[in-house]
Amino acid sequence: TRDVRINPSILAADFVNMQAELARIATADFVHVDVMDNHFVPNLTFGPQMVERIQATSPVPLDVHLMITDADRNAPTYAELGAASVTFHLEAAVDPIALARRLRSIGARAGVAVKPATPIEPLFDHLEEFDQILVMTVEPGFGGQGFMADQMPKLQRLSAEARRRGSQVWLQVDGGIGESTISQAADAGADTFVAGSAVFGAGDPGAAIAALRATAAS
Ligand code: DX5
Ligand code: ZN
Repeated sequence: TRDVRINPSILAADFVNMQAELARIATADFVHVDVMDNHFVPNLTFGPQMVERIQATSPVPLDVHLMITDADRNAPTYAELGAASVTFHLEAAVDPIALARRLRSIGARAGVAVKPATPIEPLFDHLEEFDQILVMTVEPGFGGQGFMADQMPKLQRLSAEARRRGSQVWLQVDGGIGESTISQAADAGADTFVAGSAVFGAGDPGAAIAALRATAAS
């Protein structure tokens, strides 16, 4: 069996009952926190003040996914407030390597994300600079979209390259992950799975997490 992580996305949670929603996913590995600025993506969620309260309330560590412009300036704030990992978009950073180093120096895992149209190959010479790489399997911005199976070859190339280099980097997928799609992503090399609607839309989120974990690991 494979070592996998299931990170429910609170984008699919009830925002005015956040404390109770966080308690429903206490068996997750991380809680995935989607920060959107209505500029990098056409949707808006929340910023550091809310994330700080989630950090203080969550039973599991925070996996922050920043869908915001000017990542170089804004991302360190989320590491400083104690997020376990901070993932910025490659498309939104001027100096991704310097930013990853800064995030690590603050004590967070450094993550970089790529949108579906963004090639992965430019990262191949820099895998050691990152703790996790997020291959988006939807256009970022909204939950509940369909899984883009056409991103699997990109994930396979990344996974092969990471193996070739003996890299320990975690490979994450985000968007449309559920019981019917998680195996495709796992087979293509993903080990860290974000799921919003598949977890929070379930009657028993703990059971949904366990089922996704079992399917991905098998
Ligand atoms: C989309 C976000 C995702 C989203 C996934 O831009 O990055 O984390 O919440 O939602 P589902 O799992 O419903 O596709
Ligand atoms: Zn996300």
